[in-house]
Amino acid sequence: MMGKMETAVVLRCTRDALATETLGALLGARLRAGDVVALSGEFGAGKTCFVRGLASGLGFATDEVRSPTFVLHHVYRASRLTLHHIDCYRLGDGADIEFLDLDELVAGAAVAVEWSDHVDLCAWHPVKVRIGIAKDNWRFVQLDVGVATHLLGVWDEIP
Ligand SMILES: Nc1ncnc2c1ncn2[C@@H]1O[C@H](COP(=O)(O)OP(=O)(O)OP(=O)(O)O)[C@@H](O)[C@H]1O
Ligand SMILES: [Mg+2]
Repeated sequence: MMGKMETAVVLRCTRDALATETLGALLGARLRAGDVVALSGEFGAGKTCFVRGLASGLGFATDEVRSPTFVLHHVYRASRLTLHHIDCYRLGDGADIEFLDLDELVAGAAVAVEWSDHVDLCAWHPVKVRIGIAKDNWRFVQLDVGVATHLLGVWDEIP
């Protein structure tokens, strides 16, 4: 039977920060406990902006969502689901994520990790979000839901 093709990897372009936040919100609305969102992209790409969207999609007041670069870890307790926001920038490349006790965190919550390429998250089968900077404030936002099939089609309504 021919069904609708759902692909794990999708790409969208955003013209401003709000559009990037909207992509995050659509994903956030569908997150479940155990989901790990691994973000990558250069300085100022929009990783924190995207996480603000994740939190808003969960129903969290987004003005509290800031880059946790200096504290490493923020917790947003939305009513449906808690989101842990981690930034690995200060850990440097090849850092050990053991100390974060990610197993404990993902047991009852979702986790978003900025500068995720500094750590090895393979064991948690992360959803990958890669943001690239284009000209005139545009961003390429690539999503790979991997094995998280409940997130397939999450941006279908966005052209
Ligand atoms: N299309 C866009 N999407 C996202 N952010 C955009 C866009 N256009 C402009 N911006 C601006 O780019 C900046 C993105 O900052 P943000 O803190 O989200 O980046 P970051 O990837 O988390 O950086 P860092 O690596 O320092 O943590 C914001 O100032 C935002 O307003
Ligand atoms: Mg950031």
